[in-house]
Amino acid sequence: MKVGLITGITGQDGSYLSELLLKKGYEVWGICRRSSSSNTMRINHIIDKLNLRYGDLSDSICINNILTEITDKYGDDLIVLEVYNLGAMSHVKVSFDIPEYCSDIDGTGVLRLLECIKNNKYKDKIRFYQASTSELYGLAQNIPQTENTPFYPRSPYACAKLYGYWITINYRECFNIYACNGILFNHESPRRGDTFVTKKITSGVCNIKKGKQDYITMGNIYSKRDWGHAKDFVYGMWLMLQQDKPVDYVLSTGKHYSIKEFIEMSFEYVNINIKWKGEGLDEIGYDEDTGKTLIVIDSKYFRPTEVDTLLGDSTKAMLELGWKYKYDIKGIIKEMIDT
Ligand code: NAP
Ligand code: GDD
Repeated sequence: MKVGLITGITGQDGSYLSELLLKKGYEVWGICRRSSSSNTMRINHIIDKLNLRYGDLSDSICINNILTEITDKYGDDLIVLEVYNLGAMSHVKVSFDIPEYCSDIDGTGVLRLLECIKNNKYKDKIRFYQASTSELYGLAQNIPQTENTPFYPRSPYACAKLYGYWITINYRECFNIYACNGILFNHESPRRGDTFVTKKITSGVCNIKKGKQDYITMGNIYSKRDWGHAKDFVYGMWLMLQQDKPVDYVLSTGKHYSIKEFIEMSFEYVNINIKWKGEGLDEIGYDEDTGKTLIVIDSKYFRPTEVDTLLGDSTKAMLELGWKYKYDIKGIIKEMIDT
């Protein structure tokens, strides 16, 4: 029996990874948080096929209970249990508001999972994937960034993820656990959370086109990101756990664009010509044909420390895992606007 356990199963990546594992014949388990309103929108279409348990990465007891429940259920029939740690407080800007919580979940939460794996009777059949991030590069020391580029985190989120990255390597080296990091650059989809920049822009463009919204209020439109599609990236996560040995890999597209360029491509897709005038907080984007304002800037969306430019080089993943991505930036924008 091949079994997958996903923390963060209700998130963007958790939902695509669940679909992938089900398609491959895995039994899929997931840890969900209790919420006062529904948080299963992204997995409702497959919910009957999943084994969901309430839990939280702040709670070692529940993590241990769930892991033990799974290994007790399958016992010696277990071929492999792949644990994907995707659960996180994943919003960089919000991490400045709730830094201690973010450290606990995104940093110490990784340790809690690894300890439970270490103490499990079937430890040697368990493989662990840690959702590491290109935010680790922060104030990037090299362009493009590879597995060997030094880290320089720029937010409480990235600092917590730095701990998660190293504790994963430490448990691999100390306790011989099959544990690896995927250092993933930004990846998007129609299931992206509403307050991440690509979703905010594509939803805003749709609303403006339909006459439901006048303009979009943005923060820093000059940072650059290397954006891929979440479907391509969860396939890369799965590939990492299929190797003989645990190794850390970068996944990225090797192309990057500014937020401003993403805005321009999104409006272009719905046949609106955006032009710009002004500078700094006074910069606006307007519709060339009607003169209506489409984009305004508000400093409330600026970050105390920004990550100005991210560009990944995933040559290692392409050569060693055979990983490829299918979506380019225009394909991502098209899907996000059309869905
Ligand atoms: P997401 O959509 O924000 O999903 C995060 C998931 O974590 C949700 O299921 C959320 O549950 C869960 N979660 C939050 N706090 C938790 C807690 N205390 N205990 C247990 N679960 C908790 O994030 P994503 O885009 O799918 O990203 C998946 C992982 O990859 C995250 O670790 C993220 O940091 C990392 N990552 C993402 C990217 C990217 O560009 N997407 C790039 C690199 C790394 P609720 O649904 O209840 O909120
Ligand atoms: N969210 C947001 N909202 N970002 C804005 C806005 C806005 O109104 N205006 C400009 N930006 C800029 C941010 O300052 C940042 O430079 C960039 O858009 C991208 O922001 P996000 O979409 O919030 O993503 P992120 O790059 O900070 O973090 C995402 O990618 C990381 C991987 O590099 C998250 O998914 C992280 O969890 C992930 O680790």
